[in-house]
Amino acid sequence: MPVHLYGSVVDIKKIKKITNKKKIYIIDDCSQAHGAYLDNKRVGSLADISCFSLYPGKNLGAYGDAGIITTNNLYYYNKIKNFRNLGSTKKFVHTQVGFNSRLDTIQASILIEKLKLLHSNNIKRRKIAKFYDLKIINKKIKKLNYSIGAVYHQYVVITEKKKKLIDLLDRNNIQYGFHYPKSINQIESLKNVFSRQKYPNSENLAKKCISLPIDPNLKKNELFKIVKILNSF
Ligand SMILES: Cc1ncc(COP(=O)(O)O)c(C=O)c1O
Repeated sequence: MPVHLYGSVVDIKKIKKITNKKKIYIIDDCSQAHGAYLDNKRVGSLADISCFSLYPGKNLGAYGDAGIITTNNLYYYNKIKNFRNLGSTKKFVHTQVGFNSRLDTIQASILIEKLKLLHSNNIKRRKIAKFYDLKIINKKIKKLNYSIGAVYHQYVVITEKKKKLIDLLDRNNIQYGFHYPKSINQIESLKNVFSRQKYPNSENLAKKCISLPIDPNLKKNELFKIVKILNSF
């Protein structure tokens, strides 16, 4: 279950080299990667089943909860359609136990309109990311390697001086986020599940990551201000 985290696309071709031999199916999480691509293929067409959250903050976000699943496999397609409608494809016929996961029609009409902006917003996100890539020259801020077809749902940097950087951003009214501040084994409800192993890398990254502003509507002068401040500490 690869996750195209931050909108950077996982190289599924490499994973398929292993999974094809063993008949393992791939379900990818595209919730942060709407419109991203690998070679000439968009996410949503790379795996056996692809899942997208359309939560409001996503690159393609509804005005409430929503999500979609894509697949090229007719068997899964019918199964999924069935699951989402309480296990029923025909009125009063329930062939399996399902859920109520139908996409709300109002959300669907909002998404149809917002879909028209996805491509241009993704281009803007890429431009902002390129700007940060080139202009952030502070050695205390480590940049990540995003994939070529990334759509920068988040622009995450790593720093040993997180507290200092946060204070500076706060003082200058620059928003930031943490994706994510806890490693999965540090989440209260999952501690028991992950207690048998140590996760030093994810714990370490959780301590040091900061997400910079990447909204497609950011203005040039705002971006220059952000970079100036990032380079000044
Ligand atoms: C990578 C990823 N997977 C899954 C989810 C969960 O999405 P939802 O809350 O719409 O089920 C999110 C949302 O934050 C996400 O970013």
